[in-house]
Amino acid sequence: MKFFADTADVDEIKDLAATGLLDGVTTNPSLVAKTGRDLFEVLGEVCAAVDGPVSAEVTATEDEDMVGEGRRLAEVADNITVKVPLTWDGLKACRTLNQSGIAVNVTLCFSATQALFAAKAGARFVSPFVGRLDDIAHDGMALVREVRTIFDNYDSLETEILVASVRHPLHVVESARIGADVCTVPPAVMRKLAMHPLTDKGLEAFLSDWRGTGQQILEG
Ligand code: E4P
Repeated sequence: MKFFADTADVDEIKDLAATGLLDGVTTNPSLVAKTGRDLFEVLGEVCAAVDGPVSAEVTATEDEDMVGEGRRLAEVADNITVKVPLTWDGLKACRTLNQSGIAVNVTLCFSATQALFAAKAGARFVSPFVGRLDDIAHDGMALVREVRTIFDNYDSLETEILVASVRHPLHVVESARIGADVCTVPPAVMRKLAMHPLTDKGLEAFLSDWRGTGQQILEG
């Protein structure tokens, strides 16, 4: 499973990328607004910091305007993926952008039929929002499972399932169990994935015993 960072914070992205674990980034208008910075400046820095796809979202709502914005966003770097919302206009824009060779991530997906339409419209990624479904007492991961089953029924569907709105490590574990292609994870959750209290406890004991020997691995 590929890991994307769900953030527009360039410092966070650089730190995560330094582990070699980062396969891409997803941003959205809210995440960019949170930085308080210029969209194009942020996108340029993010695209330079990661090798993989960087999702940048349009803010227009009519298909032709979405296509115009998408083309502008795609000029930032070769690794831009244009994000469009899963609306009727978004599907039309997805088709047009895909036909002109621009990769599209269809976002705000909350049903299996929406995901199927995104795939048929030529999306490179479709993003089911699991946390927001959980928030309204619907099982977000059940949607991912359903979409995986549907996509696996048809070899012609090449769209990758990008699990979004991830809130905690269990969303990530379940995504991997289901066989989602990508999980986009907020940096704080990403760090939690590497943590275990027994690792910290074990390390503390090893270091304490080692200090007792008075030895050092490197001189000086
Ligand atoms: C994905 O591409 C979105 O940016 C993101 O996952 C939304 O998550 P949220 O529901 O935590 O805002």
